[in-house]
Order: sequence, then structure tokens, then C-alpha cells
Amino acid sequence: MENLKLFKDLQSLSLSLAELCKNLVVTTTKNRDFYLAISGGSTPRQLFQTLARAQFSDLIPWHKLHIFWVDERCVPMDHPDSNYLLAKQALFDHINLPPDNIHAIRGAAEPNMEALRYAEDVKSSLPKGENGLPRFDLILLGLGGDGHTASLFPTGEAFKPGSENLLCRVAEHPGSRQKRISMNLPLLNGAAEVVFMVSGSEKSGVVADIFLQRDGFNNYPAALVSPESGKLTWYLDHGAAQLLHLG
Ligand code: 6PG
Repeated sequence: MENLKLFKDLQSLSLSLAELCKNLVVTTTKNRDFYLAISGGSTPRQLFQTLARAQFSDLIPWHKLHIFWVDERCVPMDHPDSNYLLAKQALFDHINLPPDNIHAIRGAAEPNMEALRYAEDVKSSLPKGENGLPRFDLILLGLGGDGHTASLFPTGEAFKPGSENLLCRVAEHPGSRQKRISMNLPLLNGAAEVVFMVSGSEKSGVVADIFLQRDGFNNYPAALVSPESGKLTWYLDHGAAQLLHLG
């Protein structure tokens, strides 16, 4: 499986992914700014903390790096559920990233208006791909146990006709009913590079469904992430990959 990297644990996965991020940013920023979109949840924390370490942070030209989120919970930015707060505490508080380079989703704003505002921020900030959509240099995605990614849930409106031309949308967590603002599939698939970072045996079933294309895998939004003219790589630890029987 050419687009899969296997690691013994989340720590080694995070170290390798930090190296990839650093190398991509250093290379790209020789010519222009770099546009990154990150996820929330629990998996990325170690990656953020690793990037904050001097061995990486001293080499990354933070003033040329613009950070966006693939989704955000509709809560204040100081709320414990906030994806912004996760990145602030694990990374931003430890590096010299210009505030203007942090393109946070305003979780406390009215969701429909904020989805429009945020989509405009993405459109006006990023270079365009061949398809005319904003093109991220790198998008880091997580995977939910139900096959969601960003806040595109299997039961969500992301699949309703007409949603395909939205860059961002308001979504709702199927369990908690918590409102979210999420990037839509076309924006994710317009990226130059997408990396899924998945850790833990509790994700092994959905990982196997997707990689082995088991019945119904196409109902998972994560399975629909396929960059049109970009690279997709899955960074898995042994727990997440245990049902792939890779040896
Ligand atoms: C969020 C994330 C979401 C996350 C997955 C995996 O806002 O929660 O963007 O898509 O990546 O739910 O979450 P964990 O990393 O906590 O398993």
C-alpha cells in the first residue's frame, strides 16, 4: 500500500509527520508562503508539541506559514472543546507565529455567517489550484470511529445535493448535536497534499473498512478524500493498522 506509513506508536508517528511538515514548509517558503490546515481532536496534540520543540521550531520560518483549521466546534475560543485552544496551548504559545497568520474559525460567532466569513478568508488568502479552488499546501486530517473527517459526518448534510459547491458548511455532531463549522470535501480534495494521522486500535475497524474497501466504506466521508491533483498519505500507528495484517 503505497500511500501508507506505519509507526509503532503515536510518538514516532508525530515525529515523522513533524519532519514532513518542516521539510515541506522550508522547501516551499524559499519561493512563497505556505498554507496549512490542521484538525482538532486529541491525535494532533503530540504533533503540535513536537513542532514546538527547538529541533523543528528553530528551522521553520513561521512568518511565512499560514495556519487554518479543517473544522471548529461552535464554542468560544477559550472553551476546552475549542480546536483553536488545543493548537494555541500545544504550539502557538511556544513559537513566534504572527497573529495574522492564524486564521481561526470564530466558534462563538453565528455559525452560518461564520462559515461564509471563513470561506471568504480561505478564498482571499490562498493561491488557486487548476480547478479554481483555493489550494492548501498541506491538510492534516484525523479520522473518527464512524468514518468522519473534519466535521463531515456520515449522516451529515455534506452529501446532500448542492453541497458540493460550498467551501465550508455548518455541520452537527450526530451524538452531541454540537454545531461545527467544517471545510467541505471539494476544499479538502483541492489540496496539494493530504495526510491522515490515525492512532489507536479503536480506529482499526474503520481503517480496515477503508483500506480493504469493505461493504459500505464509501459512506465514510474520510473514504471520499482523494486529492484531485495532490498526494494522499495515511500515517497509522500499529493499533490503527492492526486489522490490515501488514506484518
Ligand atoms: C475535530 C476533528 C475531527 C477529528 C476526529 C478524530 O474537530 O474533532 O477535526 O475530525 O480529527 O474526530 O479525533 P481524535 O483525534 O480525537 O481521535
